[in-house]
Amino acid sequence: MTVDNGQVKLPHVVSMEELTTEEVMGLIQRGLAFKNGQAQPNAVSHLVAANLFFEDSTRTHKSFEMAEIKLGMERIDFNASTSSVNKGETLYDTILTMSALGVEVCVIRHPAVDYYRELIDSPTIKPAIVNGGDGSGQHPSQSLLDLMTIYEEFGSFTGLKVLIAGDLRHSRVARSNMDILHRLGAQLFFSGPKEWYDPAFDVYGRFVDLDQVIEELDVLMLLRVQHERHDGATSFSKEAYHQTFGLTENRYKLLKPGAIIMHPAPVNRGVEIADQLVEAEKSRITAQMENGVYVRMAILEAVLADRA
Ligand code: CP
Repeated sequence: MTVDNGQVKLPHVVSMEELTTEEVMGLIQRGLAFKNGQAQPNAVSHLVAANLFFEDSTRTHKSFEMAEIKLGMERIDFNASTSSVNKGETLYDTILTMSALGVEVCVIRHPAVDYYRELIDSPTIKPAIVNGGDGSGQHPSQSLLDLMTIYEEFGSFTGLKVLIAGDLRHSRVARSNMDILHRLGAQLFFSGPKEWYDPAFDVYGRFVDLDQVIEELDVLMLLRVQHERHDGATSFSKEAYHQTFGLTENRYKLLKPGAIIMHPAPVNRGVEIADQLVEAEKSRITAQMENGVYVRMAILEAVLADRA
């Protein structure tokens, strides 16, 4: 099921590549309507969510909680470090337990790429699965809040020049955004250390030196350097990375008047972006966090539409 009378209905939200552009635009419009006070949530307040985070998170975890609060839903807490995961319980068995308890939606972050596949393919697991990030795989709710932020700014994606900069190979944010931005008509560029680039991304855009295109960009999307996925020391000092690949104050001055800066956060201040630019006039980093609550309301509503 896709979009019915403007209501997006989805069994699960696990990967941007599994959403049509119609579904994506429906979720963005719904998120904007929630934000602008033009929509009231459908009746999901009797339904129960479990937020299961097996990797650290501030924004995604708390933003889903806030979305659930705004939808009036009930939530059960889950803390992996005090759960039976410590006794060897598998992810499948944790979610099977949530299913048996009567939970209707599980929001899950887990380090294993594609962890969700066995859950959504299982005939016995009943809750809707919402992927809050799977290793270096996908991060669909981050992508949708990024798209909502761009759409809110420009009203369209067609022809926008978007550069995704930094730790591309390890980034589920980049992986989630590149295909959908390409499908929506944006012109994509990539930059950063060449060894963190995957030639498979060539189908979506062109690898460039940031300084070659910075004056043309509409959106500069910076990525966090993911030290935890680098298997040891990164090859750059913070200062060397910042000067070569990051948004310095000098580069900021080259951005055109209507351009915006984005970053999924957490930010490594002074690495991807100069400390004092995090809240600069062109920065939409806090707007991204704010929009995350509304687009996650839309996601939860979509996966619960047939359960309400
Ligand atoms: N952007 C993002 O996913 O942040 P968290 O890791 O804090 O959830």
